[in-house]
Amino acid sequence: MTQLFPGRFPATRLRRTRAESWSRRLVAETALSPNDLIWPVFVTHGDENEPIASMPGVERYSLKNIGRAAKEAYDLGIPLIALFPYTEPDKRSDDGREACNIDNLVCRAIGEIRSHAPDIGVMADVALDPYTSHGQDGLVDDMGRILNDETVAVLCRQAITQARAGCHMIAPSDMMDGRIGTIRNALDEEGFQAVQIMSYAAKYASAFYGPFRDAVGSRGVLKGDKKTYQMDPANSEEALREVAMDLAEGADSVIVKPGMPYLDIVSRVKQQFGVPTFAYQVSGEYAMLVAAAQSGALDQDAAIFESLLAFKRAGADGILSYFAPKAARILMQHDTIKP
Ligand code: PBG
Repeated sequence: MTQLFPGRFPATRLRRTRAESWSRRLVAETALSPNDLIWPVFVTHGDENEPIASMPGVERYSLKNIGRAAKEAYDLGIPLIALFPYTEPDKRSDDGREACNIDNLVCRAIGEIRSHAPDIGVMADVALDPYTSHGQDGLVDDMGRILNDETVAVLCRQAITQARAGCHMIAPSDMMDGRIGTIRNALDEEGFQAVQIMSYAAKYASAFYGPFRDAVGSRGVLKGDKKTYQMDPANSEEALREVAMDLAEGADSVIVKPGMPYLDIVSRVKQQFGVPTFAYQVSGEYAMLVAAAQSGALDQDAAIFESLLAFKRAGADGILSYFAPKAARILMQHDTIKP
């Protein structure tokens, strides 16, 4: 609640409460905890983890190692892990049918995580881009148009497949119209009423997704852009309409994406709807912060902490961040970042 008491110098000195650490901690309006973090993780075939050139410090986890990584995240206090597969080129196709294979990488990773870290939440993305030979999130017709309703039908099968594999939460990131309600119905009909939907409701056609596309192997294959389904960065009224529709269709929580350049959207969504609202600090934001730290331009731990705290201040309930385990460790040794 904003206090409109204006204060007047010299009786009022705003520096007084900033003078000591104990006092700054006492009046802090926002706090960050590991409970606020969602960790997006890439998975790959084979026995070894693989580095991702454009995301220094992030690896694709092998199925052999993903369970242990999830257990470590759980022990750090992270509530939810989000999975993204690197699909081998020979398993990609025009129609992305591998998305609905109960033995695919994501489904097997869900199984590994559930057995190694039974109490961490597991979220699976719904969209076809990791599985299509053209790198688009949906089905494409002869004219190169992305088909809406035909895509939604496949997304329903993908969601059911992932729910069968044991995920707790489905996160549609495809931006097709009407997919939340259709997926909700499909899950309910199959008996998955308890599976949550976190909708990428306000997802923008952004240049900041570049490193992610490397990580899932879709950058090289992507033809064209995603502007006919992802939002125009110029718009914010439209973001509110997207969120309103997804909530009406049954979304339990919503994501604004990317994060830091879109804090105004996070703030408007939280104020207008008051629902669980999450921000995605995307791959390009990660890469920028790491590159700046590596060049000595800024202190990495302090910049990570500040960037994540800013999402909370803007109104986010939590943040999807590739820094999640690192941030949880920073928070554990709070001495490194004195408030
Ligand atoms: C695609 C998807 C993307 C991201 C998450 N899901 C990329 C895209 O839309 O092209 C980006 C995440 C990131 O950049 O960290 N369904």
